[in-house]
Amino acid sequence: MLKFVSLFHYLILMQNLNYKKALSHSIFTTIRKASELLNLESYVIGGFVRDFLLQRGEAKDIDIVAVGSGIELAQKVSELLPYNTKVQVFKTYGTAMLKLNNIEVEFVGARKESYNKYSRNPVIENGSLQDDQNRRDFTINALALSLNKKTYGDLLDPFNGLKDLENKCIKTPLDPGVTYSDDPLRMMRAIRFATQLNFKIEKKSLNAIKTHSNRIKIITNERIVDELNKILLSPVPSVGFLLLERVGLLSYILPELIDLKGIDEVDGQRHKDNFYHTLEVVDNISQNTNNLWLRWAALLHDIGKAPTKKFSKRNGWTFHGHEFVGSKMVYKLFKRLHMPLNEKMKFVQKMVLMSSRPIVIASKVTDSAVRRLLFDAGEYLDDLMTLCEADITTKNPKRFKKYHNNFKVVRQKVVDVEERDQVKNFQPPVSGAEIMKTYNLKPCKEVGIIKDAIKEAILDGEIENNYKEAINFMLTKGEELGLIPIG
Ligand code: CTP
Repeated sequence: MLKFVSLFHYLILMQNLNYKKALSHSIFTTIRKASELLNLESYVIGGFVRDFLLQRGEAKDIDIVAVGSGIELAQKVSELLPYNTKVQVFKTYGTAMLKLNNIEVEFVGARKESYNKYSRNPVIENGSLQDDQNRRDFTINALALSLNKKTYGDLLDPFNGLKDLENKCIKTPLDPGVTYSDDPLRMMRAIRFATQLNFKIEKKSLNAIKTHSNRIKIITNERIVDELNKILLSPVPSVGFLLLERVGLLSYILPELIDLKGIDEVDGQRHKDNFYHTLEVVDNISQNTNNLWLRWAALLHDIGKAPTKKFSKRNGWTFHGHEFVGSKMVYKLFKRLHMPLNEKMKFVQKMVLMSSRPIVIASKVTDSAVRRLLFDAGEYLDDLMTLCEADITTKNPKRFKKYHNNFKVVRQKVVDVEERDQVKNFQPPVSGAEIMKTYNLKPCKEVGIIKDAIKEAILDGEIENNYKEAINFMLTKGEELGLIPIG
């Protein structure tokens, strides 16, 4: 980051930044030609320009604004391309899109917009580039580069977005109250950009978000979750969640996290603030994984603590069964936010449900406990261990070291036990069909009892995970049940 800042300062100071470099992709020359043929002006605007200036790497989207019809411009561009690139037209929005390998180029006509108080759908009129820049969300997203012959590569920056990039500041082009109430999703976007880019949000803007936070209700859950995912995938996600909490948005979106806030004290006994603890866990895990769903698991691993919190003189503060309650809450939360209810949700549930298991084992690492852990977590054991290690937030260095060492022991034991017993992808060494054949049984409860007993005996270490020992065990168990093998 330091390297980037000094480079940025250098570039700004020298005042000779060659914006044309941003336009090295051949599509820009084609757009310029198409604009000339249609006799209209066009500009590249928004995230592409911002990310070029921030040197954020290869762009995936290019937004083009035409002073005229964006759809016609897209069609003309497609005609000029050597290969037959299809234009996707979105008539309702007046936009069109071209896909070039990995890049999506979106075309829109410059617009003036005004919004209805009760809806996100704007009333749209044609406008100038400046009108279009006015209605953008942030000054750093209103930067445009000219694609017109005489001014090709010139930067159009009516709101000093360049300065805000330099000062790492999120500001709105218009009065923030107008920008946010026009499109309340922008409140989430401000926080998302602040988190992704490590920028500050201007105070005026933060205050406006506080005032308008309840307007988030008109935004679809899918779009909210999109922003949440981007916050979660940022280098330090807590930045975003702390901001969401501070401006009042979090209580609309994830009230389960707000319920974790606060420390209670009875008879001089306190529990930790599980909200701040959770955010630390999320930051910790983000240093070790880019898996979005594992990051979600970290965010939700303690949500069951609010409804299960109890105090008793004998045991102090307890959260009995919070993992089970939390895993049930994961389903409700995913459903409410229209998130996927498939294996991704089940993975998060599993992580939440099992989030204390390695900790319990760590104090006494027996083979059978490790076998059971391996059996229950299966292919996700490594993710579960990563979550548990991230869960260590003690500020006591001795304890910190001790807990991490305990997990090292668990991890080693897991490798040893798996190598020997192979229970991770457990397949019963004796099948139900074989049990039925041995005793001439039709499917019945006894078959299940024997199969289960074999599994338990293997997990407990009574017998080894192989066919011979399992068959012998089956015969003993069958005898106990009064079954007689045929033949
Ligand atoms: N925009 C806006 N208000 C929104 C969404 C988008 O004003 N609610 C404008 C901004 O100028 C933004 C541009 O549309 O730069 C493109 O939007 P989008 O592709 O969603 O975002 P990017 O800025 O490109 O950033 P990212 O790809 O990281 O989402």
